[in-house]
Amino acid sequence: MKIGIIVHSKTGNTYSVAEKLMKTLAAKGHIASIEQVEAYDNGQMDAIKVQLKSKPDISPYDVLIFGAPVHGFSPSVVMEAYLTQLMAFPDKKAACYVTEFFPLPQMGGNQAIERMKEICSLKGFDVIGTGVVNWSNIHRKGMIDNLAEKFSGLFMSLSECKEGSK
Ligand SMILES: Cc1cc2nc3c(=O)[nH]c(=O)nc-3n(C[C@H](O)[C@H](O)[C@H](O)COP(=O)(O)O)c2cc1C
Repeated sequence: MKIGIIVHSKTGNTYSVAEKLMKTLAAKGHIASIEQVEAYDNGQMDAIKVQLKSKPDISPYDVLIFGAPVHGFSPSVVMEAYLTQLMAFPDKKAACYVTEFFPLPQMGGNQAIERMKEICSLKGFDVIGTGVVNWSNIHRKGMIDNLAEKFSGLFMSLSECKEGSK
């Protein structure tokens, strides 16, 4: 199963989670690649005004993982702009995760995930899993390991369904 991990990361946290996901997925036999969403102006706070420098093409992938930092209780405007500008991909499976700093999920992470799910659904994606990694949590490494296991489990079941339907 070809998995695209499409990530925006301003200071590297969300990207480092993507790297862990890629390694775990590869160890389970998937072909996973990371592609970064980048903007010309990383400080732009209005998703409508963001000029994207890099807009990964998701058409080669069977399934997608979208990762973003939480910025002001939402996914980063760069990820929001990217998802909003994507062509619709009806029924493609996707999973979403965010990294956040504040200690409680209701201080941004949950809201950001809900917003990512909302945009993904509008684009026709079937969102099959989500995750929030809290960067200030002492159990952060465990949270990242759990997320990697959770997502690889989801994709493993999809591969088995695909094989079974042949
Ligand atoms: C402009 C801005 C707004 C942020 N807003 C939130 C927030 O609402 N809730 C939260 O928990 N963290 C917030 N953070 C912290 C980031 O989500 C967190 O540090 C994240 O892991 C950064 O990911 P990155 O290194 O991939 O950019 C904010 C950071 C920035 C720069």
